[in-house]
Amino acid sequence: MNYLLLIFSTFSLLVSISRAIEVDFCVADRNLPRGPEGYACRNPTTLTTDDFVYTGFRGSRTITNVPGNNVTLAFVDQFPALNGLGISMARLDFGIGGVIPVHSHRTSEVLIVSRGSIIAGFIDTNNTAYYRRLEVGDVMIFPQAMLHFQVNVGATPATAFVSLNGANPAIQFTMNSLFGGNLPANIAQQITLLSNAEVMRMKRAFGTA
Ligand SMILES: *[C@@H]1O[C@H](CO)[C@@H](O)[C@H](O)[C@H]1NC(C)=O
Ligand SMILES: *[C@@H]1O[C@H](CO)[C@@H](O)[C@H](O)[C@H]1NC(C)=O
Repeated sequence: MNYLLLIFSTFSLLVSISRAIEVDFCVADRNLPRGPEGYACRNPTTLTTDDFVYTGFRGSRTITNVPGNNVTLAFVDQFPALNGLGISMARLDFGIGGVIPVHSHRTSEVLIVSRGSIIAGFIDTNNTAYYRRLEVGDVMIFPQAMLHFQVNVGATPATAFVSLNGANPAIQFTMNSLFGGNLPANIAQQITLLSNAEVMRMKRAFGTA
């Protein structure tokens, strides 16, 4: 049994390593189920240049949500050509005073500011915070899986672009996970050391109380 498992996992590993050298690209077929390595490939003879171009970052953004941001993803679900290539992007727009609350990804992230000025930072597993004010053209790296955040501290709206070293890096917002999902209030209270009133205030803010 363990022997079979070993053969299977070795084979799976070889499949994932060899994809990069067996085919030039593997544009996602999103009609088929997704596996741990991503989606199955579309038939390459049906692909055109358009499949390798993403135009979703064009234009301006309106800011309507409470944190004051508008995030445009170019992950594999929005840009299927990224499938299997270990790379993705996002455009971050901030209203004046807008923030992207503390969150993490499965991957690392590199950010470049293209408009305005933001404070960006991350917090490592020793609880040391690394943060600074970035201006247009500045680049910052958020290492893999670290909690990180961005705050527009300029007098104008701000925009930044990020790239992540995974096609499906996910975004886990810490506060949403604790207060915006199905975690019961009493457990949230116990594991955060907050009061019941504080937990209920947060749950109301996320529409779960
Ligand atoms: C982001 O901006 C676009 C373009 O103005 C708009 O259609 C969309 O509703 C905005 N999203 C959010 C969450 O505000
Ligand atoms: C960990 O954090 C403490 C302060 O909280 C600091 O004194 C120490 O140098 C840090 N260690 C590392 C390896 O960063």
